[in-house]
Parts: sequence; C-alpha cells; structure tokens
Amino acid sequence: MAHNRQDTIPLYGPEAFEGMRKAGRLTAEALDLVVDHVVPGVPTEKLDKLIFEYALDHGAYSADLCYRGYRKSICTSINHVVCHGIPNEKPLREGDIVNIDITLILDGWCGDASRMYYVGEVPRKASRLCEVTHEALMRGIQAVKPGATTNDIGRAIQTYAEGERCSVVREFCGHGIGQSMHTPPTILHYVENKYDVEIVPGMMFTIEPMLNLGRPEVKILSDGWTAVTRDHSLSAQFEHTLGVTETGFEIFTLSPNGYHFPPFQQSETGTL
Ligand code: MF3
Ligand code: CO
Ligand code: CO
Repeated sequence: MAHNRQDTIPLYGPEAFEGMRKAGRLTAEALDLVVDHVVPGVPTEKLDKLIFEYALDHGAYSADLCYRGYRKSICTSINHVVCHGIPNEKPLREGDIVNIDITLILDGWCGDASRMYYVGEVPRKASRLCEVTHEALMRGIQAVKPGATTNDIGRAIQTYAEGERCSVVREFCGHGIGQSMHTPPTILHYVENKYDVEIVPGMMFTIEPMLNLGRPEVKILSDGWTAVTRDHSLSAQFEHTLGVTETGFEIFTLSPNGYHFPPFQQSETGTL
C-alpha cells in the first residue's frame, strides 16, 4: 500500500501531453542522430557538439547545460561509468559501451532519454548487460498503470535484474518531469516503501535503471559529476520519459527509427 504524500506531484492534461510528445520525440531523434557517430576514434565532446547544434537548429536547448554548474549538453558514460560522465577529448575505443543521456527543452517541455551504444564490436558480457538493462527498463514501464504504485516499477526492474545476476544502482533514480527536468515523484528502480506512491493518470516521469555487472555501490569522481562503480565493473543504463494514461502509459521518447537498443546498425540492415 502506498501511504506517502503525493499532493506535490504535478498532474498534467492533454496540452501538456502534446508538449511532451514533441519534446520527447526531438530527444529521441537526437539519440538517433548520434548512432552513426559512435565509432572508434571519435571523442565524446564531438557528440556533445552535435547535440548542442541539433537542439539549436530545432528551436530547443539542453537542460543539462548550466544545470548546477554542468558545462556540457549531454552526459556520456563509458564502461564502468554509471552516469553523468562528462564529454571530453578522449577518443572512443573499440569495445567500449557508452550511455548517451540527453535532456532537451522544446517550447518549455522537457524530454529526457538515454541509450547504450556499442563502439565497434563489444565483449559478450558487455552486450548482455546492455540487453538486460533495456529489458529491465521495459519491464518497469510495463508496470505503469493507474492503481499500481511506484514500487511495482521498482519490483519489476529489481526482480528481473537480480535474476539475471546484475545489481541495481541505488544512488540515482527516475524522476517526475515536465516544465522542469526534475520534479516529484521519485522513481526508484528497486523496492523501497519510503518512496512508494500510487500511480495516477496525468503523472509524467522518467524510468532510468542503472545496472552493474558487479556490486551496486558507486562513487563520485573529483570532478563532482562522474559516477563510477566502486568495484570497476561495467554499468549500463537506458531511460525513457513517459506519461500515465487512463489505461497505462505513453512513452514520449521512443526512437522514430526503431533504434531501441544496440547494435542499431544490425536492426536496420541485417548486416554487421
Ligand atoms: N539526464 C539526467 C537525468 O536523467 C540528468 C543529467 S544532469 C547533468 O536525470 F547535469 F548531469 F547533465
Ligand atoms: Co532523467
Ligand atoms: Co537523463
């Protein structure tokens, strides 16, 4: 049962859903755009620049830029980086897995989404982690319907992930979203009664599980942003922004090109 306060959780109507549909679609298109650029030798700051310009060209801007002093337009989290990796001049290397997380504001509405990308061919354990993490996100989303509670999302993710011998990061969570990037409610990716609230139509939030191959603990590097696994094990994350409807959910950030999880090239051409 959900006994927690939810009177501060914003609820939204049809115009807001329409705004979020557009912002979410643009965010997903930006994630689609980088697919061809995530290759060995490319520095992550080139991806950052691409998205910065893509946003401006489409009348949008990044919610990350200047958020609490953050200086880039996207987050790029490679291998054992859990989240909030800062784009830099280092070239991507064959075998890396990288999460790209983009939050775009269009006409005042925020779309927030991330996916994993493979740099060339990646080890089987890395691709397996990415597949499990995407499946965990989708199972979490399937739990979203009026009358369920946020613990049902966390339970779906945690049960599946731990059954696949992956651990769920505790320090970061999904969040309500709308005209700001982060609003109530807090969406945990594991079961915790303290944050359990009932899901009702008109809510809008993200689900963004981070799964590790090893232990769940993370630490923050001295740049104040980069979160890494304490045991250096690989970490993966996928994120969608969605709205709660009368019967279930609407995902605002689905890829228009069907680039749901890597290898994206394979899903398009059947080669590679
Ligand atoms: N996109 C992230 C999220 O899912 C937030 C990034 S904030 C930044 O909530 F400043 F690190 F970019
Ligand atoms: Co988010
Ligand atoms: Co995000």
